[in-house]
Amino acid sequence: MSSAAAPRVSADDALDPRAMREPLPNAWYCVGQASAIAGGKMRAVALNGEQVVVGRARDGALFALRDRCPHRGMALSKGKFDGDTLMCPFHGWRFGTDGRCRDVPTLSEHDASDFSRIAVQRFPIVESAGFLWVNPHLGPSDPGAVPAVPSLDFEPAGCLVLELEVEASFDLTTLSLVDPGHVAFVHDTWWFRPSKELREKVKTFQPVPHGFVMTSHATTTSSPVYRLLGGVPEVEIEFRLPGVRLERIKAGTKRVANYTFATPMSPNRTMLTNALYWSMPALNLLKPVARPMMRQFLTQDQQVLQHAQAGLDRKPTMVLLGQGDLPSQWYFRLKREALEAAREGRPFANPLVHQELRWRS
Ligand code: FES
Ligand SMILES: [Fe+2]
Repeated sequence: MSSAAAPRVSADDALDPRAMREPLPNAWYCVGQASAIAGGKMRAVALNGEQVVVGRARDGALFALRDRCPHRGMALSKGKFDGDTLMCPFHGWRFGTDGRCRDVPTLSEHDASDFSRIAVQRFPIVESAGFLWVNPHLGPSDPGAVPAVPSLDFEPAGCLVLELEVEASFDLTTLSLVDPGHVAFVHDTWWFRPSKELREKVKTFQPVPHGFVMTSHATTTSSPVYRLLGGVPEVEIEFRLPGVRLERIKAGTKRVANYTFATPMSPNRTMLTNALYWSMPALNLLKPVARPMMRQFLTQDQQVLQHAQAGLDRKPTMVLLGQGDLPSQWYFRLKREALEAAREGRPFANPLVHQELRWRS
């Protein structure tokens, strides 16, 4: 990050054939809205090549289990959940929400088989900012080493959520969250980008735990969406591992947050989740207008990412050039540091420093 004055071309920094190609294994990933799972309900989610069943017991406790019956591999999410135990639909084995086998109904009293040691793999799950978060990592880990789950620092009056599957790798999709260069070309809708001209931008970046934050003031010339807030809003955009973009907008006492999360489903499929929260009840009226706009915006990313993925499938190299591409390089640097810290069993040390970047967008 210290060499910003001299833009550098780099591909090998970014693309390590093994661990660097995969999503960070030990991190929290968004697996859907918390409100989508009521007490006594469960649902299947794809996470980093794994099938996971997430649910909420009758008492409200969340659980996440590998969606695979140990008996013959059946998806437990296809069975029944009574709010306490999951029943596999194939031969009726029952599992507690802790993953332990509770019953094998086909056993005779004379059968000496012991099922008490059989268990389904369990994953940590938490709820935050209206979403459920699962860490697919297996094995011991120090909670301090894992990037914090996104949270909201105000009480929202309303919220708009959109989820879109992208046929692209987790890395490529995540790069779009920190890439100022694509905005003028991909998101050129009148309501977001009224001016077609590229302008010189100067932004200040600083390291934050497991990521970096961009602060900017006096965005008078920016999008009409910001102007809705009245006054001159202060905008702060944080990127945090594994693939989280947190945009926080303040105008006086008014608050808006636009959060975007990337979730790896499989090697070439990534879920993009966008959540817009606001503190002003009056904005609830705009929901029917805002929803199609948000969909259009996310679809623009989806389309361009899918075409770019096709190009990377033919030749998996990138050229990262100029200061506008530095945040993309930082992403790979943060990820590499997280992997190296985990491998060496030491705390994560953010390799980034305070820096001003210039680009045209
Ligand atoms: S596969 Fe689940 S009980 Fe047989
Ligand atoms: Fe985008």
